[in-house]
Amino acid sequence: MAKQLEDSFNRKFYYLRLSVTDVCNFKCTYCLPDGYQPTDQKKPSFLTLDEIHRVTAAFADCGTTKVRITGGEPSLRRDFTDIIRTVASQPGITKVATTTNGYRMAKHVHEWRKAGLTHINVSVDSLDPKMFYQITGENMFHQVMEGIDAAFDAGFEQVKINTVLLKDLNSQELPKFLEWIKTRPIQLRFIELMQTGEMDSLFSKHHVSGVSIRNHLIANGWLLKVKDNNDGPAQVFYHPDYIGEIGLIMPYEKNFCESCNRLRISAKGKLHLCLFGEDGVELRDLLADDSQQPQLIERIQTSLNTKAVSHFLDEGKTGMTPNLASIGG
Ligand code: GTP
Ligand code: 5AD
Ligand code: SF4
Repeated sequence: MAKQLEDSFNRKFYYLRLSVTDVCNFKCTYCLPDGYQPTDQKKPSFLTLDEIHRVTAAFADCGTTKVRITGGEPSLRRDFTDIIRTVASQPGITKVATTTNGYRMAKHVHEWRKAGLTHINVSVDSLDPKMFYQITGENMFHQVMEGIDAAFDAGFEQVKINTVLLKDLNSQELPKFLEWIKTRPIQLRFIELMQTGEMDSLFSKHHVSGVSIRNHLIANGWLLKVKDNNDGPAQVFYHPDYIGEIGLIMPYEKNFCESCNRLRISAKGKLHLCLFGEDGVELRDLLADDSQQPQLIERIQTSLNTKAVSHFLDEGKTGMTPNLASIGG
């Protein structure tokens, strides 16, 4: 086995976010307001199943235990179930997760589960069908809700829901969201709106501070859970009267990056050391056949020495990230 991935600030990386497509069929106001626009005229060539196999094998060899398949909308790939199967087949990978807009869940989540998917996160920005349409540009509210029911039916014990609260849009729905998880094993995560490269006025108009949500929760009897080292960036809250939990993802919080445990691969095969920041390290030239696995591992390991200590979002930097769909969130 190769050396455990570690950067120069002693952060260890067990978690890979693997983007398999940039394409998304939703038009979320804060992410792809004009819908997906191909960056070049040629048909985008996203990583093939074989390339995905090689890159995840290299990460597994370096101690990765969790892979989250992201996008764009990952389930738009026709071979999505095969991708899950390929990732799940790697020795040492015990958690195979995906983050989806829920569009294909009702029909396919049983099949994904059988292929080896262990965790699922779904984006739901409103519990009101009209507001859902206003934020996502798609009339899919009922389909997504059916998908969540189907996930429980398929055997997922918990489903995580991602919600970005936006001032003057869905921010009034906080009580409704809390009511929703009273009787459901959902971890509802409020993600604080992050300013990306393509977003200008939207951020100042709609940003809701994570601190204000946290204060509301604490005032209403929610209690902070002790964090496990391998968890994601969310601060998790529980309440004796609720089956569900709340996760707060507050990227503007001081020290947010201290516990960073994840690396990213873009849909076209670049290694990104941070959600924000650099342009990425090309890996694709080493994914063409199995013989280059040692060089691939070497390149991943040496790149880690250049990982920055923080995203510097609080200094107004958005790095090279035009929107989160372009890098898998
Ligand atoms: P778990 O693996 O379930 O803990 O979830 P996760 O929060 O890592 O995954 P998910 O794809 O649901 O992430 C939700 C969103 O949280 C992402 O799309 C980002 O908006 C944000 N997020 C996740 N990881 C990071 C990170 O490293 N930095 C920042 N700034 N935001 C992140
Ligand atoms: N700020 C916060 N969250 C975002 N997402 C996409 N763009 C942003 C942004 N600028 C969230 C989506 C989805 C997750 C993958 O990322 O709501 O749940
Ligand atoms: Fe890690 Fe970058 Fe995320 Fe910070 S923003 S937690 S450094 S990936």
